Amino acid sequence: MKIQSAVFEVSSPNLALCPRLPLPEFAFIGRSNVGKSSLINLLTGKNDLAKVSDLPGKTRLMNFFTINRNWRLVDLPGYGYAHVAKSERADFNEAVADYLQGRENLICIFVLIDSRLEPQAIDVDFIEWLVDTEIPFVLIFTKADKQSLSQTQSSIARFEREVLAELDPPPPMFASSSKTKAGRKDILKYISEQLAENPQPPSGAH
Ligand code: GTP
Ligand code: MG
Repeated sequence: MKIQSAVFEVSSPNLALCPRLPLPEFAFIGRSNVGKSSLINLLTGKNDLAKVSDLPGKTRLMNFFTINRNWRLVDLPGYGYAHVAKSERADFNEAVADYLQGRENLICIFVLIDSRLEPQAIDVDFIEWLVDTEIPFVLIFTKADKQSLSQTQSSIARFEREVLAELDPPPPMFASSSKTKAGRKDILKYISEQLAENPQPPSGAH
């Protein structure tokens, strides 16, 4: 998949204010600082498209980026930092829950997990919520450059054993690094396969 253009479109505080044109969307979610914005920059090849910061909680709104004029990447606020709704459904932003449950043109949710850590309660809870809500997802284990390949592999294996054992089929999984560009090709290939399976509505459908 060749990225010909990647353009910031809008930041939305809630589902009602998301872009109206229903282009296929791929959303990125995960703990604050896990590397969502960096991954979007890696995939698009634009280092300053999504704002990256050492300070957790940089991305507070849902940020939409239009790629090749016909699909979108969506940078969602990190959970575990931004204001957390006191609801029973999940320990994360209410607007994000609405988006994940109600956005009809959302094709795929990438859940980012720090490849160096043992399974974290906040990630496990979020994945349980996705499973309970019957929302399919893909896992990306980030920051793979910070340790050896075998450490990343054993971390992923542990996650599979402890968190995903009951999921049949298990979700697709990738490892990534914004430093070495690991994972870029495979994730873009996955996105293009998903786009092929989910043809766009005819133009003018909005
Ligand atoms: P929020 O917007 O706060 O939720 O964070 P985020 O998930 O968007 O993380 P962001 O991309 O801003 O990255 C957080 C920090 O981790 C930055 O200092 C990045 O440079 C660093 N980082 C992200 N991805 C990688 C990676 O693959 N390898 C390494 N070594 N550092 C990374
Ligand atoms: Mg961010």
